[in-house]
Amino acid sequence: MSDDALASVTRNDLLEQVTQVFVDRYGVCPEAVASAPGRVNLLGEHTDYNGGFVLPMTLDLEVAVALGAGANAGAIDIYSDTFDESKRRVVDEEAVGHWSDYILGCLRAAYREPTADAGCRVAVAATLPIGAGISSSAALEVAMLRTAAALSETHMDITETAKLAQRVERDFVGMPCGIMDQFAAAAGSRGKAVFLDTRSLEFEIVPLFSEHRFVVVHSGVRHQLTDDGYATRVAECRAACAALGVEELRDLDSTDLARINELEAPMNRRARHVLTENRRVLDAVKAMKADDSACFGTLMVESHASQRDDYQVSVPEVDALVDGALRAGAVGARLTGGGFGGSVVALVDGANVDAWCRSIRGRFPSARILAVT
Ligand code: GLA
Repeated sequence: MSDDALASVTRNDLLEQVTQVFVDRYGVCPEAVASAPGRVNLLGEHTDYNGGFVLPMTLDLEVAVALGAGANAGAIDIYSDTFDESKRRVVDEEAVGHWSDYILGCLRAAYREPTADAGCRVAVAATLPIGAGISSSAALEVAMLRTAAALSETHMDITETAKLAQRVERDFVGMPCGIMDQFAAAAGSRGKAVFLDTRSLEFEIVPLFSEHRFVVVHSGVRHQLTDDGYATRVAECRAACAALGVEELRDLDSTDLARINELEAPMNRRARHVLTENRRVLDAVKAMKADDSACFGTLMVESHASQRDDYQVSVPEVDALVDGALRAGAVGARLTGGGFGGSVVALVDGANVDAWCRSIRGRFPSARILAVT
């Protein structure tokens, strides 16, 4: 399916699709289906595991899960339509570094008894691309938890769902992430941004710009956050906290900058990024509320430079794409998500967005336009 065709599949179509996949696979109807969206982070990168601020927005691209009882106690049969791959897992197994870990972890967290008694069957379908930095794993976790909650007739609110999904990812899958992706997937505010304080988990929905659109472009470089880069950044932030005598980098303000600059490398760069990025999110929310796209664009450009130079999570292909996005007329562009590849988000005048997309496709043949909002 082409990217454009993927984007035109609605949530209802996707729920029907995953139901059909389940029926084709297992010969019976599922007992519950649910979906959850991917996200693009507009500003505030690598701030969430430092107690800071983030500004994600959910996309029309989703992951859907269908669930039903199985026939073998303790056995979980899983089929992914995206990978055309099936896998049998056992409820007490540990993570093995396979995509089915997310499903097993969520079922263990939210649906343990039924799986131990009778086993279960799961089917997955998605319009959300994997490894593009727009949070397919959090969407899968939240969709799985919602499906399990529907089947066991329990209600989980946004915060409970997000915290449980994050726990699965951190404690079961072993990726030391913050809560942004799971919270965005659970809050699901299409066409609006979610300004989240990751320490208090208070959030506010902020409307987007009246005349500018956010465009998400996959660089063509697949990102893989279970590689060491992300965990290394988390550890470096902890080391910076210890050296500065604070509990979280969120506790720093501009009066700490001189102390930060004196830290050993790379702790100085990491702490400087988190301090300035938190400030940029607060300024960006003000700019968004004032419909000031030029100011927001400038903050995006500064955020990218900080991710590239201080946090060192960009790659040359992504830097070139950000540069090309600005040259093609975007008012702002930056790496979005965990980094080491993945996607760029650009802010583009709505009147020129088609021409802008054409220009990007022409100049970057391996890039793919994933969403225009
Ligand atoms: C990944 C993580 C998030 C967040 C971002 C970077 O997407 O899952 O928790 O840390 O990277 O902002």
